[in-house]
Amino acid sequence: MRSVALGLMATVFSLQAFAQSITYSPEKKIWLIKTAVSSYAMGVSPEGQLQHLYWGGPLWRIEDLPAASKKNDISSFDPGQMLDNEEYPGWGGPRYYEPALKITRADGDRDLVLRYVSHQIRGDELDITLKDIRDDLEATLHYRVYEDVGIIARWSTIRNKTNQKITIESAQSAAWYMPRGDGYRLSYLSGRWAAETQLNREPIHEGMKVLESRLGHTGHNLNPWFAVDSGDALEESGRVWFGALAWSGNWRITVEQTPYQQVRVTGGFNTFDFAYPLEPGQSLETPQFYAGFTSEGFGEASQLMHKLEREYIQPLQAKARLRPVLYNSWEATEFNVSEEGQKTLADKAAKLGVELFVVDDGWFGARNTDHAGLGDWVVNPKKFPHGLNSLIEHVNKLGMDFGLWVEPEMVNPDSNLYRAHPDWVMNFTGRPRSELRNQFILNLARDDVRDYIFGVLDKLASEYKIRYFKWDMNRTFSEPGWPDVAPDQQKELWVKYVLNFYDILARLRAKHPNLEIESCSGGGGRVDLGVLRYVDEFWTSDNTEAFDRLRIQEGFSQAYAAKLMSAWVTDVPNQNGRSTSLEYRFLVAMQGALGVGANLNKWTDDDFALGTRMIALYKQIRPVVQSGQLFRLLSPRTNDTTANEYVSPDKNDAVLFGFRHSQEYNTAPPVIYLRGLNARAVYRVESIEGKLAGSTAEYSGAYLMQNGLQLVLKGDFDSTAVLIQAADKHR
Ligand code: DGJ
Repeated sequence: MRSVALGLMATVFSLQAFAQSITYSPEKKIWLIKTAVSSYAMGVSPEGQLQHLYWGGPLWRIEDLPAASKKNDISSFDPGQMLDNEEYPGWGGPRYYEPALKITRADGDRDLVLRYVSHQIRGDELDITLKDIRDDLEATLHYRVYEDVGIIARWSTIRNKTNQKITIESAQSAAWYMPRGDGYRLSYLSGRWAAETQLNREPIHEGMKVLESRLGHTGHNLNPWFAVDSGDALEESGRVWFGALAWSGNWRITVEQTPYQQVRVTGGFNTFDFAYPLEPGQSLETPQFYAGFTSEGFGEASQLMHKLEREYIQPLQAKARLRPVLYNSWEATEFNVSEEGQKTLADKAAKLGVELFVVDDGWFGARNTDHAGLGDWVVNPKKFPHGLNSLIEHVNKLGMDFGLWVEPEMVNPDSNLYRAHPDWVMNFTGRPRSELRNQFILNLARDDVRDYIFGVLDKLASEYKIRYFKWDMNRTFSEPGWPDVAPDQQKELWVKYVLNFYDILARLRAKHPNLEIESCSGGGGRVDLGVLRYVDEFWTSDNTEAFDRLRIQEGFSQAYAAKLMSAWVTDVPNQNGRSTSLEYRFLVAMQGALGVGANLNKWTDDDFALGTRMIALYKQIRPVVQSGQLFRLLSPRTNDTTANEYVSPDKNDAVLFGFRHSQEYNTAPPVIYLRGLNARAVYRVESIEGKLAGSTAEYSGAYLMQNGLQLVLKGDFDSTAVLIQAADKHR
């Protein structure tokens, strides 16, 4: 009896221990953060140094953790500070690893040593304030815990409470520490225009790897996401620490291994050309850096990110809605848009089952090529003799919403806006202004430019029934000068530009709650968690060639949810001259938010019949693809077959996409072992074109996961989708 009671008490105690996501032990001066899949701990040493203590699988007992303590010097070349794993190190004293904060005071003093001052826990949020050992220069570290997805957001606010000006030279959001050891690997996404989000995986050695953008926007070249694994992780096993920085401007993530077998990841504002002055009383907030841990491999790392994005980051209206099927004529017509042409395309798109019809570039000003008109956001009367409303009404009558392309940050030199406001462009006085795609960048850091752009978009959204803006941004920064402010404030442009960009998006969404926005920057140049707070989806890449897309999409899916991945079916041969079947192109695009970007005027009756069937099928599986769990079963990087499976949260529905790239020697494609199903349930399994070996149409979840499925995919670029539905739904 007694032992039962004790057992019960122990259960109650451990439940309580799990109930709160942040606990603090005043005796040991330790914080323990608990999530469903991980724990994270830090503590204060007797000297007041805030040290990282733990990040890994779930812990429940704060007493298990050793109190923070200052390490001894190993030699005069190996100071103890280099072993201390400070949670947010200032640059000062003998510290040589990447600092979280580096400053210069007005009098030239640059030493900064941060010590614990106070903390505050509010539910799942924690603030810890640190202060310089001498000056009233504070850094408040913010932590927000997303308990169910095992992710913590960290960022900091730096406050100058001294009476002299300081200049911040490096302001990072967080430093993250892996358990001490060797043999770690880094995964990251790299690429270029039309070849974004290529997945790389490489060993981490001593020294530093820098992932960054100096381009002004997030960039096509590197995406602000990382994963570090213990060296042996696979899709479904192994320890993975992963994270993403929520910033759409110059960002930087350093992955560093110290000589003391310590891997640390630091991220925040890029230090390149960075100098942010803080007058007495002023403060600067860094971007949020989200990171998590899982012991279940890269697959779960992605699933946790996807859930974080869908549940917690994207705007509320976006969360509540699945992405509609859209049509966009950019690849079909480019700048050659006209009222009649768009109406004809709209008629055809509506018959296919399209739900959102988007007019891309070319509808405004003198925009007949990319040489003129950018900045003049008035409807071109020659192209739309009856105004835009005539087209919008037509589109609405066909049962579709209307969307419009804009590129608000840019201006062609040949435009009325530039002729009126040449000073609005970022520039260094008297120096050449570099054109890229014949355009300059408006200095959005200026509040008058910000308000002007908001006014333009607000007017469009108020005058017309616009459901959706495709917000594009088609060049990188150059000559980022801001001659109108004092010289020591000019570098603020890097930060203020992005804050004003976010401000416009936030105001637009607040004023037009039904408005949806796609973040596009010449394809996937602005894909990050910062802009995701204000947009519904990302344009993944200007490369819409289906086979290339498989790898772009694989990389994208490491960090970002399928619902956010806009994917179009376009005509062949496209970008690289390859031709794949229309079915193959549909199936590739159906793994994200499906769109059609083909020239429907060239489609045959058979194409329309197939397209209509595929869009109907997509609508049926859309909840599973957009809200389900993704299992990457076979990677296009390593197999002649790519397979991705999406499973609904209740495990009743799943869909498997299979793509055979090139059959050799008459071999069968690999067996596909399904994942995430209910082993005890019986599922009805059906390939859309009978491309499944065997005759039984019903299998247990256990069989599908243990024995797997044999697809029948032959030749080059063959494909199928397999629908897997709990059989009792059919009885
Ligand atoms: C770049 C985008 O990525 C394309 O989809 C298209 O909108 C063009 N810009 C239009 O100029």
